Amino acid sequence: MSKHLIFKDIDQPGLHTLEVYKQRGGYGDRLKRALQMPREALVEELKASGLRGRGGAGFSMGMKASFMPKGTMDKYLVCNADESEPGTFKDRELMQKIPHLLIEGMIIGAYAAGANRSFVFIRGEYAQQADILEAAIAEAKAAGLVGENILGTGFDLDMWVHRGAGAYICGEETALLDALEGKRGNPRLKPPFPANQGLYQGPTLINNVETLATTPFIVEMGGAEYAKIGVDNSTGTKLISVSGHVQRPGNYEIELGMSSRDIIYGLAGGPGEGRSVKLWFPGGSSSPVLTGDDLDLSYDFDTLAKAGTMLGSGAIIVVDDTTSVVDVALKTASFYKHESCGKCTPCREGTNWTVKMLQRVKTGEATPMDLDIIASVCERIQGNCLCVLGDAMAMPVGSMVAKFRGEFEEYIEMKRDEAERALLASLP
Ligand code: NAI
Repeated sequence: MSKHLIFKDIDQPGLHTLEVYKQRGGYGDRLKRALQMPREALVEELKASGLRGRGGAGFSMGMKASFMPKGTMDKYLVCNADESEPGTFKDRELMQKIPHLLIEGMIIGAYAAGANRSFVFIRGEYAQQADILEAAIAEAKAAGLVGENILGTGFDLDMWVHRGAGAYICGEETALLDALEGKRGNPRLKPPFPANQGLYQGPTLINNVETLATTPFIVEMGGAEYAKIGVDNSTGTKLISVSGHVQRPGNYEIELGMSSRDIIYGLAGGPGEGRSVKLWFPGGSSSPVLTGDDLDLSYDFDTLAKAGTMLGSGAIIVVDDTTSVVDVALKTASFYKHESCGKCTPCREGTNWTVKMLQRVKTGEATPMDLDIIASVCERIQGNCLCVLGDAMAMPVGSMVAKFRGEFEEYIEMKRDEAERALLASLP
């Protein structure tokens, strides 16, 4: 079922301003209530809500907040607004239209983390959204909602927007921290996790835009009530971005557990007349692909994991039957090869070799044996890299080769015939 919580007033004119946001119930009582709760009680509410990270990994938000140490050292809250996963554009709309919801969520998140300094790391291409956020933070500061002694509760929080420079890897949390510190954005070895040693070596809570923007509703409704939305272990609503071969691409807010068919066909209108779904990525281009036979799967974390894929960032990319799977695989692999930071060998070499072998398939130089090599390279990348970027290529490409092996073989055969005919024709 499509259900509106985050996006309930999304088309309200002027929602990006403090005035309209407050008129629609923003800040006010719920924020004051959150800041008057003992920190541990707020963390317990977040845990009770069952909220799982909306950036891609689906890790319990309350659990992550509870990992933050209690001491008086400097602690930080970082909002990951680097949204670079292909097909994902939900945080963009959220920041553009309801920047104060993110700010309110960051105040709640920072309080739960015991942090007095916070940063929004936003992808460089989101210049307009960064401007909007900066204006909203200035408005919130002027109204005493950000800064010292927020709403008279004694809680202080400063907030900055930091613009990225266009690298996909900087969405990986530890590379993001390096970039925020002014270094080249390369992933760090984990552990230590940011909750123990993050920004400037201090404990840092990092959450995605949508995750933080959900916390005001959890405070308003109470964790247990929020947990009634959705299905077991996948509670709440989720913003999803639907793109590719659908008639109504866009962002939708759904209750987790909705049928994937209802999302792709019902909300997004499905592929054009006379076409059908050949494959779809359920959670951004790094998720293993599903086929037209999987449309009745419930759209939630556990069902998709059981089906061998993941909900990821909630970005559904639909590919219809007019498209060659070879092109989809090559396009996907090329993206990750381009974005690999090169720090670890399996990712740097593995993405490069996969692209080269898929190019051989495209040009008629490959044999079906090359498909086994691609599958084996993809298998060896997984779990062996410094961060998930290598896996993000290996999982979807490996799944395409496994599920559409017949089509790859036919393509190889066709291209080899073409190459042979061209060679014969060129002979004197
Ligand atoms: P992860 O599973 O390693 O970690 C998830 C979160 O939990 C992290 O914040 C981590 O610090 C924390 N965590 C996990 N175990 C912990 C422990 N023992 N102690 C303290 N903290 C702990 O996954 P990761 O690398 O953060 O995210 C990967 C996902 O990101 C991918 O699956 C992909 O879907 C998604 N992604 C999203 C993008 C976007 O644009 N939204 C872009 C690229 C990837």
